[in-house]
Amino acid sequence: MTRPKILITRRWPEAVEARLAAAFDVTRNDADTPLGPDALRDALRTFDAILPTVTDRLGPEVFEGPDIRTRILANYGVGFSHIDISAAKARGIAVTNTPDVLSDCTADLALTLMLMVARRAGEGERELREGRWTGWRPTHLVGTKVSGATLGIIGFGRIGQAVAKRAHHGFGMRILVQNRSAVAPGVLAETGARQVDAIDDLLAISDCVSLHCPGGAANRHLIDAWRLGLMKPGAFLINTARGEVVDEAALADALVQGRIGGAGLDVFENEPRIPASLMAAPNLVMLPHLGSATRETREAMGFRVMDNLVDFFDGREPRDRVA
Ligand code: DGY
Repeated sequence: MTRPKILITRRWPEAVEARLAAAFDVTRNDADTPLGPDALRDALRTFDAILPTVTDRLGPEVFEGPDIRTRILANYGVGFSHIDISAAKARGIAVTNTPDVLSDCTADLALTLMLMVARRAGEGERELREGRWTGWRPTHLVGTKVSGATLGIIGFGRIGQAVAKRAHHGFGMRILVQNRSAVAPGVLAETGARQVDAIDDLLAISDCVSLHCPGGAANRHLIDAWRLGLMKPGAFLINTARGEVVDEAALADALVQGRIGGAGLDVFENEPRIPASLMAAPNLVMLPHLGSATRETREAMGFRVMDNLVDFFDGREPRDRVA
């Protein structure tokens, strides 16, 4: 039997590439640069499976036209707002993602950002490396204590819950949750969390707000100027979800005007482009989309994609099917 032809759109951890090559007829993108719409359109006509990442924008236009060969988009990552799911569905293409395996590391990074911004660690490191540190003094780079503070979590899926565990059991933080559906009482009880109905209620009483909802059109600019205005003065905003969830211009304004205490961002609306207004904003820590970037997690994500592919081509339902 001929092996399914698959395209890996970026370089993946070696161990995963090797295992994929043993099972499938693999084409790699050795240049490791994002594929544009034309390359993706061609790929849909050439491969049985495409293994995209967040850098591959599979909008409705790439699915247009005849002779589509691809039967599955096995996404490397949990978020899939870069894929037009209804266009994929309309062409009978299955879509899978990689949940669970990246929850711990993404939660760790949300906590990293929270601590960096609240304790002014980014500023401190820059000061030291630039030779501007003049020594210890009681008023130097005084930040905000996170232990015992209130953390508002928007989106209480696996990553939100992993953040809550770290914040509550590690830092004694009080946890507030806003989620589309009701969270099971047992899950809330694990971190003494309280669910509120409205995002606005959560924003008004949280010392730090961490975003863990999906991206995509439904949540575009969920945090806009008005909602930033509802946050407590001095509160922090952390985004490890998707860039489009936050109105970046409004956030830059809120930071410049000192309306909130600071922000930590791992994701951006037009990655890898960062607007000049954010570059210039004070009290902002920015990381280059590192949420899942550990060797262990990146390998686990790859093996999870492989499990989905093997199931699909063996005629079983892939466990992580989202469409
Ligand atoms: C994810 O898994 O969604 C990461 O952000 C990379 O896409």
